[in-house]
Amino acid sequence: MKGVILVGGLGTRLAPMTRITNKHLLPVWRYPMVYYPLYSLVEAGVRDILIVTGGNNPGAFLELLQDGVEFGLEHLYFTYQSAPRGIADALRLVNHFINDEPFVCILGDNVVDGSIRPYVQSFMEKPVGARLLLSEVTDPERFGVPAIDERGKITQIIEKPADPPSSYAVIGAYMYDAQIWEILPTLKLSDRGQYEITDVNNAYLQRGQLGYDVLPFSWTDAGTPESLRKASEMARESAFWTSARIGEE
Ligand code: DAU
Repeated sequence: MKGVILVGGLGTRLAPMTRITNKHLLPVWRYPMVYYPLYSLVEAGVRDILIVTGGNNPGAFLELLQDGVEFGLEHLYFTYQSAPRGIADALRLVNHFINDEPFVCILGDNVVDGSIRPYVQSFMEKPVGARLLLSEVTDPERFGVPAIDERGKITQIIEKPADPPSSYAVIGAYMYDAQIWEILPTLKLSDRGQYEITDVNNAYLQRGQLGYDVLPFSWTDAGTPESLRKASEMARESAFWTSARIGEE
């Protein structure tokens, strides 16, 4: 299965640090932020990876990651998002790389405290529809939040709800089949001026094509000063990340 990592956007919630560099180059414990989603994909068995850059210092990702050799890869692919028009906008740019194959997309500021391999592998075995990963959080209002009925079915996903319908966040690791290429052109700009990934996921839901798993380990984004600190602490305390040894022989 192919993988995509999104490292565009302006990272305004981390200004002034992001005034002069790209958010995904900032340190999270002992690695630059982008190492975490990249390692998660490689550890899950994904070898063909496209990085969508944008915002400040997009060229620095090429300098930093080169051909992916530190991750045991033979090659990395790069492309460029010219303006931060949203996660779903960035996905439009990856169609030429993915074609009609199933794929996994990870946001460049997401750090998971364990292996996503079982979820990626199980989607690979039956790559139909969309599959989301949920994490229980104390601040769901900052994320895409699913409403879940008594049978455990997602009935709706709301982006940054003032009154969250559950305590789960839809984390930034999404698996999609080729239906996404029909859905993306139907999206409208949201109130915050972006093409929202939550609208993509709700479109899959309406088609009866949305599945999910709940992560049994911690997860955080790293896009605010507080969550950046939390991501560093999580990685430092984590058996998964302390044993990662990226780039070491
Ligand atoms: O972290 C998970 C959350 O990510 C989800 O629960 C939300 O549903 C989803 O909308 C997203 O929320 P955020 O508001 O936190 O997303 P943010 O704008 O911070 O963007 C997250 C990453 O996506 C960012 O690190 C890089 C990438 N991105 C974002 C935008 C807006 C791009 O590559 N291009 C973009 O235009």
